[in-house]
Amino acid sequence: MSLLDTLETLADVDQPPVLTHRAPAQRWQQSLAALAQAGGPTPEQYPMLQQQLAHIHQARMSGKLSPETLQALRHALGAAMGMATLQGRSWLKPYGYAGDFQVIDDIYQEVRCSDPHLRAWDDYFHAQPAVKAVRNRKAYFKALVQSAARAKGCRPLKVLNVASGPCRDVAELLAECPDLAVHFTCVDLDEQAIAHARHLCAAWPEHVRFLRTNALRLSLPERFDLVWSAGLLDYFSDPLFVRLMRKFMSLAAPDGEVVVGNFSTHNPSLAYQAWADWLLIHRSPEQLRALAAKAGAPVSQVEAEPEGVNLFLRMRASANLAPT
Ligand SMILES: C[S@@+](CC[C@H](N)C(=O)[O-])C[C@H]1O[C@@H](n2cnc3c(N)ncnc32)[C@H](O)[C@@H]1O
Repeated sequence: MSLLDTLETLADVDQPPVLTHRAPAQRWQQSLAALAQAGGPTPEQYPMLQQQLAHIHQARMSGKLSPETLQALRHALGAAMGMATLQGRSWLKPYGYAGDFQVIDDIYQEVRCSDPHLRAWDDYFHAQPAVKAVRNRKAYFKALVQSAARAKGCRPLKVLNVASGPCRDVAELLAECPDLAVHFTCVDLDEQAIAHARHLCAAWPEHVRFLRTNALRLSLPERFDLVWSAGLLDYFSDPLFVRLMRKFMSLAAPDGEVVVGNFSTHNPSLAYQAWADWLLIHRSPEQLRALAAKAGAPVSQVEAEPEGVNLFLRMRASANLAPT
């Protein structure tokens, strides 16, 4: 008997007590299948679904949900966990890693599936606080660069953008502020991300250059007024975070600034992200400050975008940190 058959069997109202520990999984499967059948959740159903995903996440974290049962639950959503939806692509990871440039760019552009039977899942995805936070960080970065460039006067602001992904933020800023004196050096490990970003920024070759390299191995002769990285450090352990922070500080000009993003421990979308195996290391402002201190980086501020989900650690550069 397959696992799904087993779960079906457990649907009997008069379950023997010995099976009750399996009952939640069976209820979740039924409820998820019903949502899929109905074409996805309505906004009124979002809190219920969010709560159910939180229960699934808790069960998984406490070892009460086997990987096989979790897989069966995901399969209950059918095509809603396939390549047509953003949650499906987040889970299936066609580029081999979570948070790829295409998913991020689709978040920025609020892309929705054209299939009316699946579209509600993309509505649900885009309504997530974490997804809104990603969109908000694009606005945060654009405002940060604009104000730094204006403060710099007529000398071009040199920005190092590490893990630059789709560069939708860079392209939008250059289109919106054609007179802004700014030059971006965009670094990403994924050559497909670079190709995508190069295409988006093709109109401004004198303002943008691209380097395909691993941030951990990044070595450049020049120094930057602003070193920015978002959507990278939340994948890195504390020791790697500290190592990268030291590298970023060493790449900043003596009067420059390093600003890095990290998801906060306050994240109402955590269970949904875990559902799609989009696993991040969430950090509180205090944890971020402590890691910066370990790296010898003087923190000036920890800021947040309006959802309070994406934090930004801002550090003034210090001239005496040796490159790693
Ligand atoms: C979540 S996206 C963030 C993109 C962009 N910073 C943004 O906020 O729109 C993460 C990006 O980091 C890149 N990446 C992951 N590991 C990397 C590494 N070790 N060095 C450089 N880039 C990396 C991925 O290829 C991907 O494009």
